[in-house]
Amino acid sequence: MKNPISLETISENTVFRNGDVFVLFGELFGRGYATGLVDQARKAGMQIVGITVGRRDENNVLRPLTDQELSEAEARLGGEIINVPLMAGFDLDAPPGGPTPTDLLARLTLEGWESEKLDWDYIEKCQAVATARFTDALAQVMAVLDGMIPEGHNVFFAHTMAGGIPKAKKFLVVANRIYKGTGARHMSTQALLDSDMGKLILRNFDEVSANTFRHLIDFSAAIRKRSEASGGQVRYTAYGYHGTGILIDGEYRWQTYTNYTQGYAKMRLEGIAEDAWSKGVRATVYNCPEIRTNSSDVFTGIELPLIPLLLALRKENGGRWADEQWRACEELLAEGFTLDDVFAKIAELQASDVMVPFYDFAAWPMPNSQAQADLTIGTSNEITAMHRSGKVVISDLLSALVVEATGQLIFGASSSPSGPVQWLNHDVVARRLNATHEVPISRSPSATRQVSGSASLSSLPQISLAS
Ligand SMILES: NC(=O)c1ccc[n+]([C@@H]2O[C@H](COP(=O)([O-])OP(=O)(O)OC[C@H]3O[C@@H](n4cnc5c(N)ncnc54)[C@H](O)[C@@H]3O)[C@@H](O)[C@H]2O)c1
Repeated sequence: MKNPISLETISENTVFRNGDVFVLFGELFGRGYATGLVDQARKAGMQIVGITVGRRDENNVLRPLTDQELSEAEARLGGEIINVPLMAGFDLDAPPGGPTPTDLLARLTLEGWESEKLDWDYIEKCQAVATARFTDALAQVMAVLDGMIPEGHNVFFAHTMAGGIPKAKKFLVVANRIYKGTGARHMSTQALLDSDMGKLILRNFDEVSANTFRHLIDFSAAIRKRSEASGGQVRYTAYGYHGTGILIDGEYRWQTYTNYTQGYAKMRLEGIAEDAWSKGVRATVYNCPEIRTNSSDVFTGIELPLIPLLLALRKENGGRWADEQWRACEELLAEGFTLDDVFAKIAELQASDVMVPFYDFAAWPMPNSQAQADLTIGTSNEITAMHRSGKVVISDLLSALVVEATGQLIFGASSSPSGPVQWLNHDVVARRLNATHEVPISRSPSATRQVSGSASLSSLPQISLAS
């Protein structure tokens, strides 16, 4: 992508209805992005079907969920789960009797990993074993799913898989230093990317976060053809990340969390949607804002661009409800601190000479630097310390709002998707939230009626703070 393409219009669902089938391709966690989309599918009366990644036993053998795990997961999802393990990635796969890539990582040393080499011919064999395992399981899942989709009904496939961090202690030590290390504990992402250890990790990210979307599209081809032949429609969505337009200095500007090593996989994911779209498949990657979830908690500072969503709520004609969100957030701060103190800290970071070079769309995802990591992690820690409790923070409240809004936006846009890659920036997220929650008598009564987008977006795409 040369420029971020924003979703500007808030649309409502006109396609999906009672009895249609919503398939969640990934497991559902309480705080995860997918909860927003599943809520919308449920409200539309769709039948919800899920999958599982399975679980590893003590010998790392992949197994389906036990009866109890299955019933808990189905209760959480509110739908039936096809219990065939779809764990992606090759970190724990190997030809019979051979070491897995995780075993190979364990043999690297903490002193020498930057120059130590891996056997790539062998790793390719492990990857082939994993791909065959995944696609065999996927074929079984699709056969079961086929029997669950009645003639003439629409199908919504929602991909949510992302991950691939191998559970190798050596890598976890390095990852901790990259994502959380400051001062003498800082570790350069470039050093990781240049090493064989880093190349292995990136390949596994590709496998989990991107290639699974292609497998999903390919292996559901028969279902797609059958549904379309009987008058149904089929959509595919996936969650991307490629920075977000947020309010900086009164204007919406593109910025990013740094360092996001998974960004290469996310660009591959975009490419898969573009390729499918060019072949007539309605597959769209929605690049979503930074929020805190089970998966993103590893990235210290990811919440910094989220907090200015409060500013967007007001800019997009928020009224009483927006004021309530401000108040609820301010109440989470310790005695003596105000939201203005928090915004000032974030604004200082965004404007600093250290950060400005990182807000370059064309150069994304840039490796970290010592000064950038110190500033990002330091600011994150300072803002956490401004709260009454480090466990109840503003970013949790705002993450839940973003999950709600993106679920509505993606579900609504999917009736008539306008392209293979779309950014959900803070402006449209704030407009969506205000349209849902503000009662018509607000600071600006016209705001709640302005559901389809004519709000000023003239400042987007602004791809660089420096531009
Ligand atoms: N959290 C953010 O800031 C953010 C921002 C933009 C996009 N996203 C994307 O949203 C999607 C959902 O992530 P989330 O942050 O809500 O977290 P989450 O932890 O709720 O979801 C992660 C998903 O990945 C699946 N998964 C993890 N490892 C897997 C593996 N080895 N094989 C198969 N599936 C695996 C899980 O089952 C789960 O469905 C991801 O694609 C993520 O990249 C997140």
